[in-house]
Amino acid sequence: MKPIQVGLLGIGTVGSGTFNVLQRNQEEIQRRAGRGIVITMVADLDVARARGIVGPDVKVVDDARAVIANPDIDIVIELIGGYGIAKALVLEAIAAGKHVVTANKALLAVHGTEIFAAAHAKGVMVAFEAAVAGGIPIIKALREGLTANRIQWVAGIINGTTNFILSEMRDKGLDFDVVLKDAQRLGYAEADPTFDIGGMDAAHKATLMSAIAFGIPVQFDKAYVEGITQLSGTDIRYAEQLGYRIKLLGITKRTPQGVELRVHPSLVPTKRLIANVEGAMNAVLVQGDAVGSTLYYGKGAGSEPTASAVIADLVDITRLHTADPQNRVPHLAFQPDAMSDLPVLPMSQVVTSYYLRLRVADQAGVLAKVTGLLAQAGISIDAVLQREADQVGGEGATSTDLIILTHDTREGDMDAVLGQMQALPTVLAPIVRIRKEELS
Ligand code: HSE
Repeated sequence: MKPIQVGLLGIGTVGSGTFNVLQRNQEEIQRRAGRGIVITMVADLDVARARGIVGPDVKVVDDARAVIANPDIDIVIELIGGYGIAKALVLEAIAAGKHVVTANKALLAVHGTEIFAAAHAKGVMVAFEAAVAGGIPIIKALREGLTANRIQWVAGIINGTTNFILSEMRDKGLDFDVVLKDAQRLGYAEADPTFDIGGMDAAHKATLMSAIAFGIPVQFDKAYVEGITQLSGTDIRYAEQLGYRIKLLGITKRTPQGVELRVHPSLVPTKRLIANVEGAMNAVLVQGDAVGSTLYYGKGAGSEPTASAVIADLVDITRLHTADPQNRVPHLAFQPDAMSDLPVLPMSQVVTSYYLRLRVADQAGVLAKVTGLLAQAGISIDAVLQREADQVGGEGATSTDLIILTHDTREGDMDAVLGQMQALPTVLAPIVRIRKEELS
């Protein structure tokens, strides 16, 4: 049978990895797919560099639309990124009847509803394994492997840059700004790391997982997003003393009232496997009612790890493209006419537990006042720590750190108590609040 012909839009790190792995493993991939899969056309603005990667047998152009217009191309891989031209090209490829493979989480998290509807109407597939957690087949796991389960929650370390920074802060006892500069020098963080450190990249990925886990439309605009820029080494050390590590988690959880969708730094018990995921690695923990907890670990970025996911999508499409569109795996795991309208909850309705750090005047009665406010609001305390020897405070000091871990409470209630605590004259600095997830 004639090989499936693939057109590649953008041949940077992931594109060249995809080309190389397809070539290197072509025989194995063909045996799996039942048909050869070949990249026959590449569009990239830097034509000379692209030619250097793919050699003389692949047509290289500088116009992505020439790839989409080529009637011989069956699948278009979009690796341009962003919402601008990438969105137009994906929609044009769909309109031209091409299947699409993309690693573009931002595009799908924001415009997924429109893109999946267009693909559905045209009877083509849009596959995006590479968009979430790079080489980890988490989309496949959520959409197919766990299809028997009512998923209860998903919690993931889904941004390698921030996990690398947090690991370094903990290992070396350094503050965020210092580690970020090192990470940029070593190539672990982009020159403009805003999307990573601000939590946006993780939120795009959490949004996609939320849709697949619960059968809701992609709703990035409803996600709560908090990055790691405000985290201090002090809190990482206090957390450690209390038996926790701080990780940037993407969390989505089903509750009777709606779906939680949030990205923020979280204390995770050190004894959990996921708390021990270090450096630039990714991991996703999924809780299903039948299977219990399952954990997926691996490289969330990089040339060949991400190529591994892109090619898995190429093989899937090759196997399925002759199937009647109604009998394919739905884009978002649930049939398009069976999506749920469960709302994404505002952060004030999210229920979680908290780490609080208060810089307080070292005077009699301060602890009683602070804990009294929590008691009045019905918020139960799990643990209290008043500065360790190497931290602020000590005999003769005028101020000290008070660390409180709470049990679960509604974020709106916690916000109200934090307002009252902050107004106490004995609370000397802005209170630090970090959410805590037991993940049990
Ligand atoms: N920049 C991402 C990360 C990889 O640091 O994990 C691509 O989403």
